[in-house]
Amino acid sequence: MKRCAEKLSEHGHSMTYEIHAKDFILDGAAAFFGPPSLFNDWPVLGEFDGAIMNPPYFKVSKASPCARVMEEVVHGQPNIYAFFLAGAAQMLRPGGQLVAITPRSFCNGLYFRGFRHWFFEKIALDHIHSFESRTETFRDVLQESLVTASHRLGKPSANVTVSTSNGLNINTAKCATLPTAMVIDNSCGHANIRIPASREDQAVAEVVESWPHRFPELGLRISTGPVVMFRATDFLLSQANGKGTAPLLSVFNVKPFRIEWPVIHKKHPTAFKICRDSQRLLLPTRNYVLLRRFSAKEERRRLTASCLIASEALPPFIALENHLNYVYHAERELKPDEVYGLAALFNSNLLDRYFRTISGNTQVNATEIRSMKLPPLPTVAGIGQKVSGLASLDCNAVELIVLRELGINPQLCAHLLEGTLFSHT
Ligand SMILES: C[S@@+](CC[C@H](N)C(=O)[O-])C[C@H]1O[C@@H](n2cnc3c(N)ncnc32)[C@H](O)[C@@H]1O
Repeated sequence: MKRCAEKLSEHGHSMTYEIHAKDFILDGAAAFFGPPSLFNDWPVLGEFDGAIMNPPYFKVSKASPCARVMEEVVHGQPNIYAFFLAGAAQMLRPGGQLVAITPRSFCNGLYFRGFRHWFFEKIALDHIHSFESRTETFRDVLQESLVTASHRLGKPSANVTVSTSNGLNINTAKCATLPTAMVIDNSCGHANIRIPASREDQAVAEVVESWPHRFPELGLRISTGPVVMFRATDFLLSQANGKGTAPLLSVFNVKPFRIEWPVIHKKHPTAFKICRDSQRLLLPTRNYVLLRRFSAKEERRRLTASCLIASEALPPFIALENHLNYVYHAERELKPDEVYGLAALFNSNLLDRYFRTISGNTQVNATEIRSMKLPPLPTVAGIGQKVSGLASLDCNAVELIVLRELGINPQLCAHLLEGTLFSHT
């Protein structure tokens, strides 16, 4: 604050300040929340012109005093930074400005859905800045971080500026002004915030969102593998042992398009006992797309999908570990071409770019897959037929098929094909 005051004074301004060594939520924001009382009229009107914050980030329990103050904002597992944003939103006067550096996690996902609805009823987003290289910018911060500038309504902003800089040098930031509806996507009621970092990302988002059906409308379902290792120790086997055992598949067995099994490792069991007690944890061997739920940060792709095609050579059951999701059809078995087509889409650079615009998280969860749009199933199967006919499932060749079958314009194709030169790790 001293340095701020000095800088302002160098430029002919003056600034006075007062530091409140108090709890921002309990001693500051609390007076602006909660039901009317003798001491506080409702609604309490904000009075501040601006808030600039770098709030703390950590999860808080629903029973904590802060969470009780912020009852109307709490949904799922709360994080203290959302309380700081909510507190500032409530304390600003109409038109007052808020600039905050926070994790990106509030932008999508179910945990923050209630918060987003609450927040964006009061606050209009003006600018989002994201950092392409998180290592240089926030060495100690694991999460992707954002700077957002917004103002208390007032009236909503028609547009949002989205900028991205490579590391700390924000003078070289790429910048685009987009209609608010393109950034805050409320099409399925989640108010998800998309951050298309470039013109190409905007084009990718437009392509994906122009597809006609959401995932469940095609009859598709996605579930998480039922085997939680530490709860299933009675059934874990280091090796398969004839008919009474099923292959146990985990993240490291799932490679683009194929399943590598068994992967012998002294710590990981490779098979699962088939018995009456273990039946509830087994799946019948059918045609599935298997998706890794987690990717490592250094991996090029968010999604890795493999094809499980049932055949007589396979045992009748498989065991899937819960770091995997599997895709199936609600009413019938998926056709092999559909399995290959879905895997080709999930493994494509096109969807990878899309997921990066909708989420900063390395994890792609089932909810995000369920709410995504897809081309019609016959188109997906057409992709699958061509892909499964390839002599080798080379990344570039697959991408080319996906882009051609979807009729993506040549300019965007060229951009996305460049991206595939960095293949899966
Ligand atoms: C990410 S640091 C930012 C520090 C400083 N504002 C900056 O930008 O360098 C978050 C700060 O919030 C403080 N903090 C944590 N909980 C708080 C609370 N309930 N009320 C006020 N400050 C809090 C922490 O002590 C920490 O200094």
